[in-house]
Amino acid sequence: MAQAAKKVMQEEDLQKADKLIISAPMLQNYAETSMDVAFAVSDLANGYVLYSERPDLSDAKKVKCGGYRTTDISDHVVQIRLTHLKPATTYYYKIGADRIHYGGGYDMKIRGNEEDARIYHFTTAGSDSKAHFCVINDTHVRWEPFGLTMDKIAALAPQCVIWNGDASNTEETIEAQMRIFLTPNIDRKDYAAETPYLFCPGNHDSRGMANRHLERVWMYRQPEERLSRDWDLGRNFAVRMGDIALIGLDTAEDKLDTNPLFAGLFNSGPYREAQVDWLSDALQRPEIASAPYLVAFCHIPLYDPDPHANPGDVAPADYDPQYSTDYAAWQRTCAQLWCPLLEAAGCQVIITAHQHRYRYDAPTADRPWAQIVGGGPNMGFTGSGENRKERPDLFPTVIEGKVIDGKLRIIVHNLVTGKVQETVEFEKRKV
Ligand SMILES: [Fe+2]
Ligand SMILES: [Fe+2]
Repeated sequence: MAQAAKKVMQEEDLQKADKLIISAPMLQNYAETSMDVAFAVSDLANGYVLYSERPDLSDAKKVKCGGYRTTDISDHVVQIRLTHLKPATTYYYKIGADRIHYGGGYDMKIRGNEEDARIYHFTTAGSDSKAHFCVINDTHVRWEPFGLTMDKIAALAPQCVIWNGDASNTEETIEAQMRIFLTPNIDRKDYAAETPYLFCPGNHDSRGMANRHLERVWMYRQPEERLSRDWDLGRNFAVRMGDIALIGLDTAEDKLDTNPLFAGLFNSGPYREAQVDWLSDALQRPEIASAPYLVAFCHIPLYDPDPHANPGDVAPADYDPQYSTDYAAWQRTCAQLWCPLLEAAGCQVIITAHQHRYRYDAPTADRPWAQIVGGGPNMGFTGSGENRKERPDLFPTVIEGKVIDGKLRIIVHNLVTGKVQETVEFEKRKV
């Protein structure tokens, strides 16, 4: 390589290394009147969002990271919460950050400022919004299927995406978490900059020291959405999007709290129970109760037709020879706690994940709701080299939902074949 070209490359690397903002923004926690924005930084930074209904941001408001009292300076992830937004309204925004020198409580200086030149936009939820969502799940930090997933989402252009758990494997550092959500190794690094995300954690999203505080990368939802009784239920959501009410539940771990493998460090049982009162109230909120379609999301399935599928309540350590796994393949406890409420409300479909194999469970006389189990990260085979086995039944999915001709249409996209795997339609519930 010529010396001149080498020098240019080195300078570019230096500039890159010197960049303060090192990711596109990620829109988290789709809601009617708030939006959360997160981005990655390389150095101690006081970040902000400039936003406006005007595309040129000429009357933009500036909101800094953190809440009252102090801002939330960070050298990893900047998190900004925009509140008092209008429902079903498009906003334009830009991200920026001051680089902070911190030498002590009386030795703080702004060492520079950086703004991302691009003006992004998002649209809030609400009954006047378009009714169109997509679901992804069990991405497990596998870049090839994740890249394909994001290509499909970009082509479908939904109003929001529900990330239905197991984004992680076992994450021990905030850098690893940032890699998953903010700086993924895919072409579409701005995948969540204009499409807001909702999050239903999976069992793997609590595993590893860093994942015990995933809120450092993916914010809890806006506390004003819920009663003080439910202050700690920062992952549950009940969001109206056009004619659809979206309900997010957290099935938590796939092992019992008493399993010795977990050393008493998990508290899923009380967490599942606490979600009952939240769900009961959420279903009665006027904008949720009046929605013609009620779709619930959670990571671990709430039903399994296979009698050998472990129901997740085998005390004390999840093992029983009659079941094919020593962890929950489905969640009987959650089903018993939540499904009576969902059934009474006329929920048409529950979209789940976790089993890494796509399945559709049609409604029956005993179970009036349908269940869709999203596929996993396997790309049509398992193993490699001599151990490679073709498995056309294992493929990642993007599950699309939209209201067309007075019906809720769910389209399951197979990302290995590139074709539609299944289409199902649901009538309006009686509200
Ligand atoms: Fe998984
Ligand atoms: Fe899982």
